[in-house]
Amino acid sequence: MKLNRRISGRIERPADKRRYVRRLFAGVAGRYDLTNDVMSLGLHRRWKRRLLELTDLRPGHRVLDLAAGTGDLARGALDLAARKEFEIRVLAADLTPEMMRAGRTRGSGALQGWIGADALRLPFPDGAFDRVLVGYGLRNFADLDAGLAESFRCLRPGGRLVSLDFGHPRSTALRRAYFAYLNVSTRVVGWALHRDPESYVYIPESLRRFPDQRAMVRRMEAAGFERCRYEELMLGTMAINYGDRR
Ligand SMILES: C[S@@+](CC[C@H](N)C(=O)[O-])C[C@H]1O[C@@H](n2cnc3c(N)ncnc32)[C@H](O)[C@@H]1O
Repeated sequence: MKLNRRISGRIERPADKRRYVRRLFAGVAGRYDLTNDVMSLGLHRRWKRRLLELTDLRPGHRVLDLAAGTGDLARGALDLAARKEFEIRVLAADLTPEMMRAGRTRGSGALQGWIGADALRLPFPDGAFDRVLVGYGLRNFADLDAGLAESFRCLRPGGRLVSLDFGHPRSTALRRAYFAYLNVSTRVVGWALHRDPESYVYIPESLRRFPDQRAMVRRMEAAGFERCRYEELMLGTMAINYGDRR
């Protein structure tokens, strides 16, 4: 796995990473949804639907879409509840106003609202939510353990955190091939859609530092979660980690 020293230096320290991530997403916000569709060939929609199945939504649930970006998971949760004919309350929270602004242009439907918030210091009381959903967010937190602890605090007993993110395939050969693919494809997509080949190289660089789905189970347990599990998608190149607050 080749290190990109320029990006690496900018995400080493938590305060620098927070600044870098915020600037990065502010810059790509306008074409973020399109980029997701291009990079995953639309498959991120299917993976997000799977996350929502594992969320086990129930009538009356209070749901936080954390690091919501343009709000895919918030909308997905509301649609799922509507199809099952029950009501839930959903809030979307993100660090980057530009991402939420792009999300608002797609309509907010029955969403309770969009809140500017840092996952490491959430402006909610203890036990405020039944479910915290995170799509491609944990990897971007400046301090993963602080973010997990904060999500745990905001869940009521019986609540669940569910996170979808890039994974690390178990096989060394596949992992190498995957990182090589990401290094090239993110440059091509970054150049084609944002005229900046570096904008998406952050993905492999942040993934390199991000725990694999098996290690994430232990990090979630250390934050207090129980029954921590993961489900691999596409041979472990993507993974959903989830755990409960008892
Ligand atoms: C890759 S986008 C994911 C957006 C959306 N959840 C999705 O699945 O498409 C990552 C988002 O995480 C947000 N983010 C990064 N660090 C954050 C933090 N500490 N607190 C809240 N949001 C954060 C960024 O602003 C960005 O909108």
